Amino acid sequence: MASDQTDQTDQIDPADQAGPPKAVTYGSYLRIDDLLALQQPRSAGPEHDELLFIVIHQVYELWFKELLHELDYARSLLEADASHRVQHTLKRILTILKVLVAQLDILETMTPLEFLSFRERLEAASGFQSDQFRQLEFTLGLKSEGAVRRFPPGSRSRTALERRYREPTLWDAFLQYLSREGYVVPPEQLQRDVTARVASSSAVQQVLMEVYRRDPKNAEVCERLVDLDEGVQEWRYRHVKMVERTIGGRRGTGGSGGASYLRGTLGEALFPDLWEIRSQL
Ligand code: HEM
Repeated sequence: MASDQTDQTDQIDPADQAGPPKAVTYGSYLRIDDLLALQQPRSAGPEHDELLFIVIHQVYELWFKELLHELDYARSLLEADASHRVQHTLKRILTILKVLVAQLDILETMTPLEFLSFRERLEAASGFQSDQFRQLEFTLGLKSEGAVRRFPPGSRSRTALERRYREPTLWDAFLQYLSREGYVVPPEQLQRDVTARVASSSAVQQVLMEVYRRDPKNAEVCERLVDLDEGVQEWRYRHVKMVERTIGGRRGTGGSGGASYLRGTLGEALFPDLWEIRSQL
């Protein structure tokens, strides 16, 4: 009898039950039950270190989401000429980036053998397929049509990438802002094809040198952009070193040459003009 009653109660849709709405709790607001159900190791056992591997990647994806949110905000602040507030947002972005770099320390506590114990269960899965990482690259100026085409048409990832591919980058918003601040930014830079990668320009470098020499407020914004560029390069460097110590010269699960492919992405500046001017100032 008691079990019959339980069965009937289970069939009642909570939305149909009378009574006051349930108070928001920590668990309901943050969807903790859903969150804790998202870590699904593939190895038998499962291997002890696979949980760490999953958690770290999921945490990265959440931070990527937050970074995109803040970068969009930074771009809109530049569009609104709010240079003081943009510095505040860039500082937050940089602080998150430092956390992203520091998190690699945790993964480096995993030895090569511990990783190999479940690596084959990843099949062809790789961080190379992170659409949010590509979205970050696009927003920061590293556009690639090939990267868009790697995602299935109509998917969330493809739609998001197509949109960001067509959107102006943070650098474009900064050049437009400088132009409104009275700087003579060359028109071909203001109307450049935003789907192309940001290339260095000696005319823009002249403008930036003027900013550094005469305009402390905007020179500070430039310095935060250099911090951002350096922060992304720092992550790439630390990631490739972690890859070298974990899988050595093996190919990546994503099909690339592994560390050799990743080394080729090092030193790729997001805002090349901000680096070029340093030897001319
Ligand atoms: C044991 C840990 C890790 C190993 C051995 C590893 C290995 C690799 C390798 C070999 C690649 C090159 C692409 C391929 O062929 O697969 C790659 C790319 C990548 N990985 Fe990792 N990775 C690890 C952890 C992480 C973590 C925690 C993240 C954070 C999201 C991450 C994000 C990425 C991204 C975004 C790329 C693409 C980089 C680019 O194309 O410039 N990886 N990884």
